Amino acid sequence: MSTAARFLPLSLRARVGRVKSRALWPITGFGVPAPQHVKLNVLRRYGYAHGTWVETGTYLGDTTHVLAGQAAQVYTIEPSSFLAERARERFKNAANVEVCEGLSEQLLPAILEKLSGPVSFWLDGHASGGVTHSGPQVTPIREELTNIAQHLVAMPQVAVFVDDFRGFGQSHELDGAYPSRSFLVQWADSNGLGWTVEHDIFVAYR
Ligand SMILES: C[S@@+](CC[C@H](N)C(=O)[O-])C[C@H]1O[C@@H](n2cnc3c(N)ncnc32)[C@H](O)[C@@H]1O
Repeated sequence: MSTAARFLPLSLRARVGRVKSRALWPITGFGVPAPQHVKLNVLRRYGYAHGTWVETGTYLGDTTHVLAGQAAQVYTIEPSSFLAERARERFKNAANVEVCEGLSEQLLPAILEKLSGPVSFWLDGHASGGVTHSGPQVTPIREELTNIAQHLVAMPQVAVFVDDFRGFGQSHELDGAYPSRSFLVQWADSNGLGWTVEHDIFVAYR
């Protein structure tokens, strides 16, 4: 990061990053990671826009904000007190957004108990450097999927999005080892869900 960029507020830095990644995407041969607007299109295509959304990893709340524009309810989980506080402030007037401060592996079971109607999950909670939370484990994805599986029978309309598919089966400096890609495929198959991968997002749906 340039010295000048370091002095920009976090939200402005994120916006500059998004503009850059959008402009450079064709030059990368439309590689991964795709820019934000492309990822949002995947969520729109397979998700239940007007139902309930559960997001793990709020970060700056930019996806939360987009989802909240249509969703009946958005639960967004963030363990960093700094980021959770920012999100509470950002969404203080949004009646359909609940910011849940804590680890998704701990908070998700209670949220799952409350869900009804069409539900979409955006599973994106992991250490990402900078101000983001790290630990106590590499990634909560195993617990998240196990918890969701226990409630699938009560969710006839469900879509589960797992970001950063390219990182599964790899070791990360920040995150340690992720489960294999076939772990995600087997999870979907064993729960009777269809699946696909688009723009680095694993999508399980029915
Ligand atoms: C890639 S960012 C999320 C981006 C956001 N979902 C979006 O679409 O703009 C990852 C976030 O996950 C959070 N995080 C880290 N460990 C977590 C955990 N165990 N449970 C939930 N969130 C976690 C980080 O603090 C960080 O804010």
